Amino acid sequence: MEKIGVIGAGVMGVGVAQDLAQHGRQVVLVDLDDETLAKARREIRANLRLQGLLGRQAQGAGGGHLPPGESSAAVLARVACTTAYDGLAEVDFVIENVVEKWPVKEQVYRRLDAVCPPACVFAANTSAISITRIGAATRRPDRVVGMHFMNPVPLKPMVEVIRGFHTSEETLATARQLLALLGKEGIVVNDMPGFVTNRVLMLTINEAIFLVQDQVAPHDDVDRLFRGCFGHKMGPLETGDLIGLDTILFSLEVLYESYNDDKYRPCPLLRKMVDAGLHGRKTGRGFYTYDAD
Ligand code: NAI
Repeated sequence: MEKIGVIGAGVMGVGVAQDLAQHGRQVVLVDLDDETLAKARREIRANLRLQGLLGRQAQGAGGGHLPPGESSAAVLARVACTTAYDGLAEVDFVIENVVEKWPVKEQVYRRLDAVCPPACVFAANTSAISITRIGAATRRPDRVVGMHFMNPVPLKPMVEVIRGFHTSEETLATARQLLALLGKEGIVVNDMPGFVTNRVLMLTINEAIFLVQDQVAPHDDVDRLFRGCFGHKMGPLETGDLIGLDTILFSLEVLYESYNDDKYRPCPLLRKMVDAGLHGRKTGRGFYTYDAD
C-alpha cells in the first residue's frame, strides 16, 4: 500500500489524502476540475501548517501530526492532484469520497474497475449507500469494502468498516492494515444502508431540523441542550453544519429510498437551506455562519 488513490477532493477526500500523506503514502487525488484540486491543496497546506503550530497538542487530539523531521511541503509533495483517472493504473488501494449520489458513485466505480489493477481494493467512504450495491457495480465485489471515516479525518481515531455481501476476509484484513498504518481503529459491521452510525445520526439531525422548523427552539438552544444535558461535544445542528447539509440531505434521501420508510423523509427546512446554498461550514453558512475560506 505505497500508492493510494483518493477519489473526490471535497470535505472527506481532503482529510483522507492529508492523513495518508502524513503517514508516508503516495496519494493520487482525483476530482473533476483543477479549481477544486487547487482548493484541496490550499486546505491541506493550511491544515498541515496548523498542525505544525499546534505540535503536541494536535497529537493529543488523536494522531493529527506532522511526521518527525518533515516539513509540510514534503508531506504535500506526496499528494499528486489530477482530473485523469488514468493516474490510478498503478494504485494498490482506492478510497472513494465522491458526492453521496448513487448515479455518480455508480459511474465512478465502473471507471475505477476499468482502470485500476485487478488486485486493487476499493474502499467506499459513503454515509449511507449499501456496500453490496457498490460492489455490484464492479467485477470485484469481494474487493469492495465500506470505510466510513469521520470528519476531520486526521483527528478521528475510529472508522466504521462495512462488510458487503461479497466482501472477502482478505479485503477486510487489507482494510485493517490500512487503518493500522493510519493509527486508527476499525469496527466491522454488516451491510445495511446507513450502517450503524448514520442510521441513528441522520435521523437525529433531521429531527433536530424539524424542531427548528416547528419553532420549538432556535438552533443554538437545540445544540446547547444536547451539549449541556447529554455532555455531547457538539449539538446535532453544529454536527450537520460540519458534515455538510447537502450531504445530510443526500444521505436521508438514500435511506428513505433504501428502506421505503417515511421516518427518513428529509425535513423541508433542510431541503430549503440546501437549495439556498446554505451547506454549512464548507459554504460559510448553514445553521451558523463561519469565516470565509
Ligand atoms: P463534498 O461535496 O465535500 O465532496 C465531494 C467531491 O466529489 C466534490 O469535490 C466533487 O467535485 C467530487 N466528485 C463528484 N463527482 C466526481 C467524479 N465523478 N470523480 C471525481 N470526483 C467527483 O462531499 P464530502 O462531504 O467530502 O462527502 C464525500 C463522501 O463521503 C460522500 O459519500 C459522503 O456521504 C461521505 N462522507 C461524508 C462525511 C462528512 O462528514 N462530510 C463523513 C463520512 C462520509
